[in-house]
Amino acid sequence: MKISRSLISALALIALASPSVLIRAEEAHSFRAAHGQFQLDGKPFRIIAGEMHYARIPRAYWRDRLRLAKAMGLNTVTTYIFWNEHEQTPGVYDFSGQRDVAEFVREAQQEGLYVNLRPGPYACAEWEFGGYPAWLLKDPTTVVRGSDPKFLEPARRWLLRLGKELAPLQYGNGGPIITVQVENEYGSFGDDHAYMQQIHQDLVDAGFNKAQLYTADGADVLTKGALPDLPAGINFGPGESKKEFEKLKKFRSEGPYINSEYWVGWFDHWGDVHHTTDAKQQADELFWTLSQGHSISLYMFHGGTSFGWMNGANWDKNSYQPDVTSYDYDSPLDESGRPTLKYTLFREAIAKATGVTPPPVPTVAPAIAIPATALTQSASLWQNLPKPVASPKPLTMEDLDQAYGYILYRTTVAAAAKGDLVLDQLHDYAVVYANGQPIGSLDRRLGQNTLAVDLAAGTKLDILVENSGRINFTTELRGERKGITKQVTLAGKPLAGWEIFPLPMASPEKLSYAAAACTGACFYRGSLEVNEPGDSFLDTSAFTKGFVWVNGHPLGRIWSIGPQKALYLPGPWLHKGQNEVIVFDIDSVPGRALEGRTKPMLDGKVH
Ligand code: GLA
Repeated sequence: MKISRSLISALALIALASPSVLIRAEEAHSFRAAHGQFQLDGKPFRIIAGEMHYARIPRAYWRDRLRLAKAMGLNTVTTYIFWNEHEQTPGVYDFSGQRDVAEFVREAQQEGLYVNLRPGPYACAEWEFGGYPAWLLKDPTTVVRGSDPKFLEPARRWLLRLGKELAPLQYGNGGPIITVQVENEYGSFGDDHAYMQQIHQDLVDAGFNKAQLYTADGADVLTKGALPDLPAGINFGPGESKKEFEKLKKFRSEGPYINSEYWVGWFDHWGDVHHTTDAKQQADELFWTLSQGHSISLYMFHGGTSFGWMNGANWDKNSYQPDVTSYDYDSPLDESGRPTLKYTLFREAIAKATGVTPPPVPTVAPAIAIPATALTQSASLWQNLPKPVASPKPLTMEDLDQAYGYILYRTTVAAAAKGDLVLDQLHDYAVVYANGQPIGSLDRRLGQNTLAVDLAAGTKLDILVENSGRINFTTELRGERKGITKQVTLAGKPLAGWEIFPLPMASPEKLSYAAAACTGACFYRGSLEVNEPGDSFLDTSAFTKGFVWVNGHPLGRIWSIGPQKALYLPGPWLHKGQNEVIVFDIDSVPGRALEGRTKPMLDGKVH
């Protein structure tokens, strides 16, 4: 639109004549930090938020879970945005169905909740690669989460695209989004202030200027992560409130004060214990926080599930720790959205602190049992390999534009060799086969990468590698290419002449199955008989290591080491009658059974 000079001067005159009118119009909807407080339309506002991630909750349940948030007394829902959900191929964006985050935000508004948005683009969150798309690692020289233009350019492009979806839903534009976090706990990662300023600028340029931007960090690293012009939130766990808020007050003498992640539970690693924490102590601390007038966001209000391949992994004390599929987190709503003791106690604490009686707690339909079913049909992975890529040395998944799943490396041993077979570097778990027979497995969690072998000339060597989830925390995430990242040596000499089979396992239902024995790694198929669809927990304890799909939905991972032994199966993904279930397992034992239980098995036990 062309605006004439005279119209501009007329507008300027009006502005000069009646500034208060203009300011009031602008302030009709505003959320901002001012005078040491958060202010909603100019009035003090205390954020009482809880976190749940749209990608970790079946879309059919978004509204139920938002209602439960409101009924616990929360006024705000917090969510990360996971970049890797929306841009799986560079420049191709998906905001449909389960990924329609704008709809999640609108539903929150319809249920009377404000939204605290965490667009990152780094999320952490025990989510694959902290939310980054795997393709960022295709060029091994790219340094993610820093000032490298090879990272900053796609990050900016993504944030600008996200702004189109969500900027219109900010409070200043009539939507529910009141706060937008810049990056995520950057102070725990580095101190490149120019990088933080750039992400801040990207968000502003994406249109996120009609809500209050802020940063969130551990209180001890505020100087590294905070930005001078923005409120700083602090993240910590139970028992820390008084001490941590004191640190924040020292850093910023004026508020607003917000505990931007209060860790009400914790996540689980494969091969480790299931974590639970003290509900009563946390309810008391929540009451204390609110009584001080501070704001808070519970991490998590409802953890949900890292469906499919989307679990992340930690790197701690030089060891790789992949997370289980469940993200129950011991939060107020359990993995399947059912209120726990924490929910009841937190609800009471919030009501006591605010004097507001929340809406009644909605009921959740009971979970269902599904009779045991033997998976009698199978399809061998060996017989269903895609076309290989030939290469003198191993290539990674990222080299082959593959994000998740498995990858198979095959070669023929030219001359007889006795010695060490070394996978340099193994990311993350490998089964090694000689002439089709398994001869050993190697596990990155345990620091294993070497197998003693004695191989005849002409042996067909297969190395099947699982991507167990990219690291989402610490600078170690920068090297998270998957498969075998450098080379394979046998008795000290590099092996060459590889055939490499990318196995993203996107459509296992398309394989042809038969009621016959199967060798090597296999897919097993059966059917779950359901009378009345409802949530269930698929007991996978008969299986060894692999993955489960039901009616084409990727549920998640199986690993007999636990602690998780049953996968959450959402009712909306089932129908009355026969439901197709497929299990991929590295073990070839036919006829094993699955059954749906009414309770989770997060600690390996049936309760
Ligand atoms: C940090 C991160 C979160 C999450 C928690 C642990 O606070 O910001 O994304 O990883 O740790 O659950």
